[in-house]
Amino acid sequence: MNENSHMTLGVYCDKINNALAALTADKPVLRESICEAMEYSLLAGGKRLRPVLMLEFARMCGADPDTLVEVACSIECIHTFSLIHDDLPCMDDDDFRRGRPSCHKQFDEATALLAGDALNTLAFEIIADAAMSGVISAQTAVMLTSVLSKGVGVNGMIGGQIIDMGAEGREIGIDELDLLQRNKTGALIEAACVMGVVLGGRYDMIPAAAQYADALGRAFQIVDDILDVTGTFEELGKPIGSDSEQNKSTYVTALGIEGAQKEAERLTEQALLVLKQFEGCEFLEDLTESLLRRRS
Ligand code: IPE
Ligand code: IPE
Ligand code: MG
Ligand code: MG
Ligand code: MG
Repeated sequence: MNENSHMTLGVYCDKINNALAALTADKPVLRESICEAMEYSLLAGGKRLRPVLMLEFARMCGADPDTLVEVACSIECIHTFSLIHDDLPCMDDDDFRRGRPSCHKQFDEATALLAGDALNTLAFEIIADAAMSGVISAQTAVMLTSVLSKGVGVNGMIGGQIIDMGAEGREIGIDELDLLQRNKTGALIEAACVMGVVLGGRYDMIPAAAQYADALGRAFQIVDDILDVTGTFEELGKPIGSDSEQNKSTYVTALGIEGAQKEAERLTEQALLVLKQFEGCEFLEDLTESLLRRRS
């Protein structure tokens, strides 16, 4: 990533991290523990890819991203909720996340479950409140809610997680794997990009954003699957070898590491091609390419 892009990413992440910290600053009496758990997982680091995508698509479509940082945090709340639940013993049973003990290890299972639930509703509260305070229009809030709720639900992340659980210990074909991934990881990445376009009011660009996100989302999950085999705990901040321990069906089990890497390269090229339809896409081009080579 060039120096300019690196700086742009840093500025975005600082703004997002500050806005996330403000979300859980208030800890009402007798409910401190759940607020602490939400804060613990939200502020544990993370690449902030989804809010960055939302803000950058909004900017490319003509909006001022500085006014939309809080709205963009809605998707990071959902993503963090998905990670907290993903690590639970009944799911992937992973003890570390973002370089720290997983939420249920630091607190307990009930607190982690409820912290995830509360982050889920907080996301929609943020969107509604942005409309109530005039940051976005009511119509925009309805559209964002529609896109985000679909990205989370049965035809989105949650649907993907159930397919993922159902595919443990059995061989699945590439079509089922693509469907699994499109839901599990692709849906939230697509929601982030499409929400950005909605915020910029360029509804004509929604199909292009969705197409970009589909390719990027698949490349991103392929790299995640590869890193589960080739990464280190220090780089990733989460356990490696988790997929094979849980007998997961992944792009590595389906295509092998080399095949998976080639597929991620092909999809990244595809994503970059679609991106050219957006004016001022240089930063996102750089970010998209860098995700292919990421080690964390
Ligand atoms: C991890 O997502 C889970 C997947 C969907 C592959 P990220 O790799 O974006 O995790 P953080 O937010 O940086 O921790
Ligand atoms: C999880 O995919 C995607 C989510 C919806 C959270 P993984 O189970 O592969 O994510 P990691 O590897 O634990 O981050
Ligand atoms: Mg999982
Ligand atoms: Mg997992
Ligand atoms: Mg993984």
